[in-house]
Amino acid sequence: MKSPVRVAVTGAAGQIGYSLLFRIASGEMLGKDQPVILQMLELPMEKAQAALKGVMMELEDCAFPLLAGMVGTDDAEVAFKDADIALLVGARPRGPGMERKDLLLENAKIFTAQGAALNKVASRDVKVLVVGNPANTNAYIAMKSAPDLPAKNFTAMLRLDHNRALSQLASKAGVPIGDIRKLVVWGNHSPTMYPDYRFATANGESLKDKVNDADWNANEFIPQVGKRGAAIIEARGLSSAASAANAAIDHIRDWVLGSNGEWVTMGVPSDGSYGIPEGIIYGVPVITEGGEYKRVEGLEIDAFSRERMDRTLAELEEEREGVAHLL
Ligand code: NAI
Repeated sequence: MKSPVRVAVTGAAGQIGYSLLFRIASGEMLGKDQPVILQMLELPMEKAQAALKGVMMELEDCAFPLLAGMVGTDDAEVAFKDADIALLVGARPRGPGMERKDLLLENAKIFTAQGAALNKVASRDVKVLVVGNPANTNAYIAMKSAPDLPAKNFTAMLRLDHNRALSQLASKAGVPIGDIRKLVVWGNHSPTMYPDYRFATANGESLKDKVNDADWNANEFIPQVGKRGAAIIEARGLSSAASAANAAIDHIRDWVLGSNGEWVTMGVPSDGSYGIPEGIIYGVPVITEGGEYKRVEGLEIDAFSRERMDRTLAELEEEREGVAHLL
């Protein structure tokens, strides 16, 4: 039996946590032969800690053979101790009357503290995925607050957007989702993101040529993928949780176990390519292998794409400026 991997999950008693933890413990994220220890963080409030206790009782009641241990805590340094993987899900939601700027600053406090705790106690190879919004900028803040850890190990979740785009494209093109290759969602996890299927294929056939509908791309596909989160809230009265947890599992599984040569979208610190300033956490196409991701390089960026990529970049730069004084 392999030795257990320590997986830290913050916001463990929340909606996404409830859809995520059981799948991690059953082996869906790291493989059916990989034991895990779950290290769960929640707010110190009595209600949050009681809810976390309840989740841990249910995890026990599943009798997962791969669940080698559990820790529930309100202390980030306990949750992140020797963590190999950290899923930062817990974040401050937008309250009534709260401006976007206030939301950014409230979350900046959380992610500077959590970045510092990771820096202090996590495995030196910890792979960090930030799910809590604003995910890209929260990942940037955590990365900047953890100077002793490799910057490349801080990532943000664009995979839900990638999966949403896959599903919509499959339906429009009339091809099975599993046949689609080479799709990407550039930029910020926000309505400014740019889902791009110019390079996408199904069984070797170009989907841009097959769909051949620039109007659908500009006026339906791009805005619908970008606003899908809001449409889920409108329909369900709650934000996406099961699909978000599913995307987090996809992201980490591919990062750790490899994407078998396929493109996947990850929000990663820019190396300066594609005109994205170094360090900005931006959704790009990557191929993963041996626990590392590698950007897909040299893609042609046409004028339509450049405009959209710059728009989502401008938003990320504005967010970065909004928190610069804290870092
Ligand atoms: P939720 O409100 O149900 O759960 C969040 C949990 O985090 C709560 O139990 C809360 O007590 C806890 N929490 C808050 N601050 C914390 C902190 N500093 N340390 C530890 N725990 C803390 O929210 P839900 O639905 O689970 O969503 C979580 C986050 O994920 C939100 O920020 C949401 O906007 C974001 N999200 C991101 C997506 C993406 O694609 N990147 C998709 C869907 C949601």
